Amino acid sequence: MEDAAAPSSDLSIVVLAAGKGTRMRSERPKVLHELCGRPMIGWVLDEVRALAPARAVLVVGSGAEEVEAAARAEAGDLDLQVVVQEPQRGTGHAVQVALPALPEGPGRVVVLYGDMPLLRAASVRALLEEAARTGPGGLALLTLEALDPRGYGRIVRDAGGGVRAIVEDRDATPEQKAIREVNLGVYAFDAQALRADLPRLSDDNAQGELYLTDVLAIAVGDGRDARALALADPGEGLGVNTLSQLAEVRHEIQMRILEEHMAAGVRVVDPATTYVEHGVEIGAGTTLLPCTVIHAGVRIGEHCEVGPFTHLRPGTVLEEGAEVGNFTECKNSTLGSHSKAKHLSYLGDTHIGARANIGAGTIFANYDGKAKHRTEVGDRAFIGSGTIVVAPNVVPADTITGAGAVLTRSARMQPGEVWVGLPARRLPPRDPA
Ligand code: UD1
Ligand code: CA
Repeated sequence: MEDAAAPSSDLSIVVLAAGKGTRMRSERPKVLHELCGRPMIGWVLDEVRALAPARAVLVVGSGAEEVEAAARAEAGDLDLQVVVQEPQRGTGHAVQVALPALPEGPGRVVVLYGDMPLLRAASVRALLEEAARTGPGGLALLTLEALDPRGYGRIVRDAGGGVRAIVEDRDATPEQKAIREVNLGVYAFDAQALRADLPRLSDDNAQGELYLTDVLAIAVGDGRDARALALADPGEGLGVNTLSQLAEVRHEIQMRILEEHMAAGVRVVDPATTYVEHGVEIGAGTTLLPCTVIHAGVRIGEHCEVGPFTHLRPGTVLEEGAEVGNFTECKNSTLGSHSKAKHLSYLGDTHIGARANIGAGTIFANYDGKAKHRTEVGDRAFIGSGTIVVAPNVVPADTITGAGAVLTRSARMQPGEVWVGLPARRLPPRDPA
C-alpha cells in the first residue's frame, strides 16, 4: 500500500459497487467476495485512500446495507460517503445518483468500478496527468490491448486514430468485436462537463441501461478531447465478473502479499503453495515452508519456522524462534519463543511459554460442546506424544507428560512433576539410585 498523499482539493472519486454481479452465480454482493482475508472492496478502498481525494463516494445498491457496513469497516481513515442506487439502471445512472454528493465547482471526478481490485493508485495518478493534457471539458480513460477482449467495451477510433466511442460487447458489430483495445472502466472526467453530459445519456442499447461509457461519444461529438491511456501493467486491468476471475485475482493479490514479506526478509520457499492473508505480521529471518495457510491477524516473530502443511488461524501468535510443523493447527493461541509444535497437533485457546516442546499428536481439547476454554502451559514443559489436555487447565513450567497422557480438568499439577496415564496421575519421583 502507498503512503497517503496530501489531499487533492479538487479531486473526487466515485466507486461503483451497486451491481448484482449476476455472472458470479452467487447470493453474495460481488464486492463482498473474499480476497486474501478481506472483502474485494477493501483492496479498492486502499488505493482510493492512497489518492487522498477531497471526496470519496461509494455507490451501493444490491445488498446495500451489507456492502456499506463492510466498506466502512475497510475504509480506515478514508472519509467515505455512501449513496444508494435503487434500482440499478446502469453505470451512467450510478454516477447520476452520486452527483449530489460531489462538490459543485470545477475539478476532476475519477470514476472506477468496485470489481477491479488489482488497480493501483499510481495508474490513476498517471490517468489524472493524462486528463490534465486535455482541453476544456475533456476526459481521459484507461485502456488495454486485451488478448481476449470478450466482455469488455471496445474502443472505437476514427480514421485519424482519435478515440470516438466505447461500444459495449453486447452492442458491438462483428467488426467492432474484433477490436482488442478495451475500456477498463477507469475515467478522469471534468466535473462540470460530467454534470452537463450525464442527463444526455440514453438507454437505447442491448441492456436498456444508461451506460457511463456513452459520455465519451457525447464529449467527442461536442468537439472536446478524449484521451486513452494504456495501462502500464496490464495485470492491473483484470476485473472480477466470474468466480474464475475471482480466483485469478486472488492469486495475483497473494503474490503481491508474499512479495512484500520477501522484501522484508521472510523466506517463502514456495510462493505457489503458501497462503498468507492480508495484514499478517511476519518477522525477518522466518521461513514459510510449502502448503501453509496463515490467516489475517496472525503475528509471527523473527526466526520462526512454519510448515510444511501448517494452518495458523486468527489469534495465533508465534514468538521469536518458535516452530510449527506439519499438520498442526493453531487458533487463538500463543507459542512462546523457541517452543516447538512440530507434528500433528491442535493448539486452541492455549498460551504456551518459552522453550516448551509440544509432542507429536498433542491435542488441547478446548471445546466441551458448549463453551471454549483456555489452557496455560509453562516454560520448558515437555508434553509427550499423544497427550490430550482437557481445558480449562494449567500445565506448569517444567512439567513432563508421558505418551498418551490425558490431563483432565481435575489434574492439579505442580512445576516439574511427571504425569502419565488415563486419566493422568502424578508419577512419584524416583528414589535417587
Ligand atoms: C463495464 C464497462 C465496460 C468495461 C468493463 C471493464 C459500462 C457500460 N461498461 O462493463 O465498457 O469494459 O466495465 O470491466 O460501464 N454498477 C453500478 N450500478 C449499475 C451497474 C453497475 O454500480 O447500475 C457497478 C457494478 O457494481 C460494477 C461496475 O459498476 O462494480 C461495472 O458494472 P459491470 O456490470 O461489471 O460492467 P461490465 O459489464 O463489466
Ligand atoms: Ca465488470
